[in-house]
Amino acid sequence: MCGIVGYVGNKQAAPILLEGLSKLEYRGYDSAGVAVRDGEKAAVVVKTTGRLKNLSEKIDNGKALAGTCGIGHTRWATHGVPSRENAHPHVSGNCTGSGSGEVESLVVGVHNGIIENYQELKAKMERHGYVFYSQTDTEVLIKLVDYYYKKYQGGPIDALAKTIVRVRGSYALAVMFKDHPGKIFAARKDSPMIIGKNDSEVFLASDVPAILNHTRDVYYIGNLEMAELSPKEVSFYNLDGDKVQKEVTTIEWDAEAAEKGGFEHFMMKEIHEQPKVTMDTLKKYIKDDGKKKHIDFSDFGLTKEDIEGFSQIYIAACGSAWHVGMQAQYVMEELTDIPVRVELASEFRYRKNKLNKNALVIVISQSGETADSLAALRLAKENGIKTLSIVNVVGSSIARETDYCMYTVAGPEISVATTKAYSCQLICAFLLAVEMGKVKGLIDDKKYAYYIEELLSIPSKIEACLENKERIQWFASKYSNARDIFFIGRGIDYAICLEGSLKMKEISYIHSEAYAAGELKHGTISLIEDGTLVVGSLTQADLYEKTLSNMMECKSRGAYLMGITTFGKYDVEDSVNFAVYIPKVDEHFVGNLAIIPLQLLGYYISVSRGLDVDKPRNLAKSVTVE
Ligand code: M6R
Repeated sequence: MCGIVGYVGNKQAAPILLEGLSKLEYRGYDSAGVAVRDGEKAAVVVKTTGRLKNLSEKIDNGKALAGTCGIGHTRWATHGVPSRENAHPHVSGNCTGSGSGEVESLVVGVHNGIIENYQELKAKMERHGYVFYSQTDTEVLIKLVDYYYKKYQGGPIDALAKTIVRVRGSYALAVMFKDHPGKIFAARKDSPMIIGKNDSEVFLASDVPAILNHTRDVYYIGNLEMAELSPKEVSFYNLDGDKVQKEVTTIEWDAEAAEKGGFEHFMMKEIHEQPKVTMDTLKKYIKDDGKKKHIDFSDFGLTKEDIEGFSQIYIAACGSAWHVGMQAQYVMEELTDIPVRVELASEFRYRKNKLNKNALVIVISQSGETADSLAALRLAKENGIKTLSIVNVVGSSIARETDYCMYTVAGPEISVATTKAYSCQLICAFLLAVEMGKVKGLIDDKKYAYYIEELLSIPSKIEACLENKERIQWFASKYSNARDIFFIGRGIDYAICLEGSLKMKEISYIHSEAYAAGELKHGTISLIEDGTLVVGSLTQADLYEKTLSNMMECKSRGAYLMGITTFGKYDVEDSVNFAVYIPKVDEHFVGNLAIIPLQLLGYYISVSRGLDVDKPRNLAKSVTVE
């Protein structure tokens, strides 16, 4: 939720900080700020509200700030409204105005995460004479570092360690100490932060794209660890203050993958990447030994024996990843005969679960940092239950803490509204379902080979769905002023609708609901008025007639119907006003195709309403707070 960056090297820091923040703006975009030090001089802090461009303009794209060491922040408000006072960096000393300008404070810092006991700590700090200028938990954190630094005089790492022990919550924290020019100190727990290095510079960021133009060599700083950054060196410490050795990881993908590549928005670029990334994900797990193809999970160590031991599956996730879980539930249960329960991670973590000890808990997350999903994972582990994650961001917390991590190969996803990561997550869920079904003896060799070929056909069929985009664009322009949109379907179609509806509301701000088609008449149908758009997903042969009847019930009450079904089902045009056809594929896997027109519909409606598609209001890409 918030993005942080840091730079220490031999170049002017501010332009590099701004460039890094521009790659992280998807994480938060209601205010931004930087603090830069020029040699021994005190830090200069500049903060603005609104998008990053306001900050860039204010400091002449960074050229106005001298100095080769600095930190920066782009905010998604949690504590306190978006304002200059609440924007980061925060300082430990007294500040005037909104905290901008040259500051003589001992500690200046930026933070991503939430400090849960900040009120109690704030009261303590006030008793010690500290004055607060913002409503943020971050200011409390920075003042606490200052307090321990002065009280124990053990140096920056000692002060950070004492702070970490005292606070509850999550943080990626980067601070500069007045007495230590040319250095940045960092600490982390449960919020993402990576540190990159080349021969003469060290970088710090919430996510890899922020530093990729400068280095591919990154370190992952662990939970409750600290780091000391200087131009040619980075050292890591544990809570005892002992040095920790770390391996460098080389990032495989390049900076271009995180650019728009000629598309107007990241979302559209990412929609168009789906044929490639779904194929990359399939190829990672489908091996061809020359005679036949088979699914191979040796990459993350899931064995036949492991699978045989599972008698229950729980899936925990948030948002679109939960929608993947909803779809996986239908497919896995049917192909494996293992009972599957899907839960929102935010519910799972607080319910008094009676978890089956022979279960597998699957956590699905693009970022691998979602606070509720991470907590669900930890709860499962505390209960001694095996965990498997489906994650996109390599080295993220969920990926590292899970027993088996099945990576999606979606590449960096920048648009807040997920598309390509969602599609790759579905692919992983389907691969798991097929392999588990095979191991459980429910899928014979012939069926297994058939399922694998059907899965491998998905990327080119997504391509075919994309060819239809002009029709969807035309349709979207008619409905850009809609007040409510309903998405209805049964079974897998219902799960598809959940995602279609979320895509619509999050980027178009049009109220929309996904409903199990059979449930409409139990109340919601009273909302249907003349002209209300009802989108039906009609991809399951045995449920086709049923859902169509429910759509007709809406039409009789004035609704305008859009239906999504497979090529060949042309009779649908007798009932619906606008039909969209997708290629045929095994019905279990149809979600990968039916979602494409729904992604496009949300996208085009958002564009025709003139909205910020990639950075919708009030949202952030990575939800690292509860
Ligand atoms: O990073 P995660 O997959 O854990 O994120 C979960 C949700 O926050 C995410 O899917 C969200 O719902 C998307 N913005 C939807 O497009």
